Amino acid sequence: MTDEIIPSLHDYAEPALDRAFAAVLDEARRQAENAHFDKEAFRLRWLGRKQGRLKMIGDAWLKSAPDEARKLIGQRFNSLKEQIEGYLEDGAQAVQNLETALDITLPGARQRVGIEHPLIKTMHEVVAVFQRMGYSVGVGPEVETDFYNFESLNFPPNHPARDTQDTLVVAGQEQKPLRERLLMRTHTSPVQIRAMEKHAPPLRIVIPGKVHRNDAADATHSPIFHQVEGLCVDTNITFSDLKGTLDHAMKALFGSSVKTRFYPSFFPFTEPSADVQISCIFCNGRGCRKCKHSGWIELLGCGMVDPAVFGFVGYDPKKYSGFAFGMGVDRIAMMKYGISDIGLLYSGDMRFLEQFA
Ligand code: PHE
Repeated sequence: MTDEIIPSLHDYAEPALDRAFAAVLDEARRQAENAHFDKEAFRLRWLGRKQGRLKMIGDAWLKSAPDEARKLIGQRFNSLKEQIEGYLEDGAQAVQNLETALDITLPGARQRVGIEHPLIKTMHEVVAVFQRMGYSVGVGPEVETDFYNFESLNFPPNHPARDTQDTLVVAGQEQKPLRERLLMRTHTSPVQIRAMEKHAPPLRIVIPGKVHRNDAADATHSPIFHQVEGLCVDTNITFSDLKGTLDHAMKALFGSSVKTRFYPSFFPFTEPSADVQISCIFCNGRGCRKCKHSGWIELLGCGMVDPAVFGFVGYDPKKYSGFAFGMGVDRIAMMKYGISDIGLLYSGDMRFLEQFA
């Protein structure tokens, strides 16, 4: 360090002093900006008490200065020192920034990629099975009128069948006639009516969507869940068409070895009505805890469209017949992915969701 050149000073006029100090400052600045800046080395080199460059330059310049110039040099010297101290901090900061930007030993800043929620994924799968059979896809409102959710589906006012779908109603509707009152749809079936009002037969449509019921949440119930509704209307549609279609759909969803069975049931808007059961996918129908040792799992409701429903939409029941079905997407997703608590599908818990990435 001692062998470094100490710039000499001969001219003590103020502009010359300014230039000389500026040159020293420039030298320090360039060193502070060096990519290999080392804070301790810089401090020793410039601010070291005995051998520091600042001290040596100061001594040299003051020693040879005439008395009138000493004050001018002293002032400039103090401000030079302050600025070099500033460079010491700036340089350290710059290096730190550089290190943060380039430290290849740190874990990378990972870009998280979104995935389809298991429910939506399952819903798309179900819909796709029917699209391949020529079905179109429709949607309808989640807030419905009593007319679409119940009356037009042949649930007359006060009919006990309404009690099977514990309904969440919109407040403050009591002044309206019953059929206009708003409620959260309890099933996707009202969209059957909306589709038939809009389109003349023949019609083949699936309707995926969210539905709401005033059910207490437990491992298998959620007040919000999802259904895929299906409707097929044409001339000469029979129960065999219904059976063949749903048997194919269940095999497409759960594997070709799955068997289906149609069990008599009741829905006001289909006649006859059936519940569809599939052979238990966990034990191949031998009987296990999942199927309550029956070998069968109930998956959906279906039936032939009741002629009374055609009456509500102006379809001629003598000319046309049709079938409808509705299945719970949550159930299907839980079976496909081995999910034991429906609440997980609505928890937004990343530890759960990340498993589907
Ligand atoms: N909407 C019925 C339910 O949610 C299911 C269903 C749809 C039954 C279509 C028959 C035909 O319970």
